[in-house]
Amino acid sequence: MKKVTIQTLQQHKANGEKFPVLTCYDATFARLMEQVEIDVMLVGDSLGNVIQGQGSTVPVTMDEMAYHTAAVARGNSKSLLMVDMPFMSYATEEQALANAAELMQAGAHMVKLEGGAWLEETVLMLSERGIPVCAHLGLTPQSVNKLSGYKVQGRDQDGAEQMLADAHILQEAGADLLVVECIPSELGKQLSQSLEMPVIGIGAGPDTDAQVLVLHDMLGISARLPKFSHNFLADTDSIEAAIAAYKTAVENGNFPAAEHGFK
Ligand code: KIV
Repeated sequence: MKKVTIQTLQQHKANGEKFPVLTCYDATFARLMEQVEIDVMLVGDSLGNVIQGQGSTVPVTMDEMAYHTAAVARGNSKSLLMVDMPFMSYATEEQALANAAELMQAGAHMVKLEGGAWLEETVLMLSERGIPVCAHLGLTPQSVNKLSGYKVQGRDQDGAEQMLADAHILQEAGADLLVVECIPSELGKQLSQSLEMPVIGIGAGPDTDAQVLVLHDMLGISARLPKFSHNFLADTDSIEAAIAAYKTAVENGNFPAAEHGFK
């Protein structure tokens, strides 16, 4: 695999080629994912749940994200390395700039921020300073307390229209990618068709440009398997084969299937 850049992902979208994304938290898995040619590794703040055993991503700190970013970066040389900015690390533009710079210096190629149009100025500011941004809409786990739980978002017309408007504002501001989590499949399709930037879905139906799963979910070792995930290790005989099966299923359009989505 050649080194994956934003341009590579734009080319995938232009060619109608779906691409796989997986969360990654350490150098060993980074090496495996690179061998299997996973286009994008995400150092997700889901590490709060799956590595630390926290009840949410809210307790995750900048120091912890920088630590895991550096570990993954040491195991990776070709995949695009995207990193979550943790809770409250981008509450103001000043904080966003200082913290995004720290993650980029730890080895990130791009940062991911949860939120809608209120992030317009932050995305513009980071993007203008050479820090690529992935926006994250739909179920935004850092807001779990405000959302009153982990619920599907954008189910009513107002919510869906708001999400489409937010996505376009963030794209105009300079976002290069969008993650959409737990939204109706039809909305996932509309977002992917109407935006120029590649849209990466998780619980967003079969029609997004790309797919992301939490590593521990796709290996079937999380405490609870979400409806939108699949245990790829159960179909194979090694972790490497499971990651390869996930990649193939995403690229062929076999995963996610309609049954993994929400109406
Ligand atoms: O933290 C994470 O793993 C994520 C994915 C669920 C997209 O943001």
